[in-house]
Amino acid sequence: MIKVGIIGCGAIGTTLAEAIDSGVVNNVELVALFDLFDDRIETLVQKLNHKPKKYYEFEVFLRNGGADIIVEAASQQAVISYSERVITSGKDILIMSTGALLDKEFLKRIKEAAKKHGRQVQVPSGAIGGLDVVKAAKLEGLERVVSTIRKNPESLKASPDFQGIVKDFDDLKEPKIIFQGCANDAVKLFPSNTNVSAALSLAGIGGQNTVVRVIVDPTITMNIHEIEIKGKFGKMKIQLENYKHPSNPKTSYLAVLSAIETLRSNISGGMKVGT
Ligand SMILES: NC(=O)c1ccc[n+]([C@@H]2O[C@H](COP(=O)([O-])OP(=O)(O)OC[C@H]3O[C@@H](n4cnc5c(N)ncnc54)[C@H](O)[C@@H]3O)[C@@H](O)[C@H]2O)c1
Repeated sequence: MIKVGIIGCGAIGTTLAEAIDSGVVNNVELVALFDLFDDRIETLVQKLNHKPKKYYEFEVFLRNGGADIIVEAASQQAVISYSERVITSGKDILIMSTGALLDKEFLKRIKEAAKKHGRQVQVPSGAIGGLDVVKAAKLEGLERVVSTIRKNPESLKASPDFQGIVKDFDDLKEPKIIFQGCANDAVKLFPSNTNVSAALSLAGIGGQNTVVRVIVDPTITMNIHEIEIKGKFGKMKIQLENYKHPSNPKTSYLAVLSAIETLRSNISGGMKVGT
């Protein structure tokens, strides 16, 4: 049995914990939970049949939780604060708040720590797809990589990322581009909404060269992610229309499924398709 600990008992942490609890991921046991807020841990534990241990301090969670792999489903700040410690304590880490990895110095430290300690840093594709194509195409050179994120005002209004950027989303009648720039800037300005662009940058040509557009669109209800790449291989353009997570509209439900599948395929062994 592989033992899993989760940092962050919000939308992703909860759905992932429930999936493990119900046996969706073979040979995996959820042993420990940690969150900044005690009540979020309590609420999640109450939903589970197999009760993991609850931790209110990160170092105690790490030392006594007994996990082999830690899933970060919290925030970019959590990635910065905890992931190096997770790795140097001899555990693997699966990172959902991918935007943190666009900090070059930080990424270098994480990679070196993982190499030194023989640990894995797993980065799911999250709310997008096609990263297998991006990685393969990169081998012969990519000229252009564009990530377009389109969400409706309700999805964005709840997010602290957008306070002060668009004064009143309610008055919008048509789509409006609220950001166009590089992924490095996008993940700093909109940390809760641009993790997909970070994953795309890591798979492709980096955060400085990946173009991100964030569009607030009152005409849509789903979270729409478009990826366009162009290179020596040809061109790819894909669009994902994602249902929102029921308890967090800025999170696409596919992001949780991607975390579950990453855990499943990295743990179960056997044949891997499309990775
Ligand atoms: N990779 C992707 O495609 C993708 C998609 C959606 C969301 N995300 C990211 O995944 C993360 C979790 O998303 P969510 O929808 O579950 O968010 P959420 O807001 O529903 O839950 C986050 C939880 O983490 C806790 N938390 C925050 N900072 C913490 C810290 N430093 N230490 C401990 N706990 C902390 C919060 O209290 C909260 O309970 C977010 O950073 C989000 O931006 C990534």
